[in-house]
Amino acid sequence: MKLVVAITGASGSLYAQRLLQLLDEDPQGPHEVHVALSTHAREVAMTEVGKLALPDRFQVHGDDSMRVPFVSGSAKFDAMVIIPCSMGTLGRIAHGYSDSAIARAADVFLKEKRRLILVPRETPWNLIQARNVVTLLEAGADVIPAIPSFYHRPETVLDVVDTVIARVLDHLGMKHTLIKRWMEPEETKD
Ligand SMILES: Cc1cc2nc3c(=O)[nH]c(=O)nc-3n(C[C@H](O)[C@H](O)[C@H](O)COP(=O)(O)O)c2cc1C
Repeated sequence: MKLVVAITGASGSLYAQRLLQLLDEDPQGPHEVHVALSTHAREVAMTEVGKLALPDRFQVHGDDSMRVPFVSGSAKFDAMVIIPCSMGTLGRIAHGYSDSAIARAADVFLKEKRRLILVPRETPWNLIQARNVVTLLEAGADVIPAIPSFYHRPETVLDVVDTVIARVLDHLGMKHTLIKRWMEPEETKD
């Protein structure tokens, strides 16, 4: 797959790191992955995980230049994931601001009817934020809030993170064995 993974300044750098690691190691790959980082993403990541671990072979971009392929509809991509997605970025996308490479790319993915997955992290939500989520759902985005589940009895932080990442991979149409599927025998999980 050819993907954009955008990382913004919401809490949850671990989610981005884990998704990128799995994309890098995916036997269905190699995937072409462009990573776009907002300025605030770097700051929050420094607080949460130190230096973000980004796979070497993925291309890493900032958020301030439009000289990147994914801001144009003429460049073909399969999907874009914004993980974690701040409510600020979510709001700018919902209102068509296109004022950064990430917001513009999301705008392009929506207009080109390409898969756009947002993984927002905020709690609680105010009414403006809730309405922005509805606007994005109406525009065709997939919204997968970073809300972990616990019925798999996760034992580590990584297990908890994986309950969210599993849903992201499902929406990308990628096979994985991160979680046991509800009421399915172990061997059929994928
Ligand atoms: C430590 C830290 C944690 C933050 N966590 C969140 C969060 O969980 N969700 C959110 O929407 N914003 C969060 N923010 C605020 C965003 O970083 C801020 O709104 C920023 O402008 C987002 O910019 P960006 O979307 O361009 O990355 C956090 C900021 C800091 C410093």
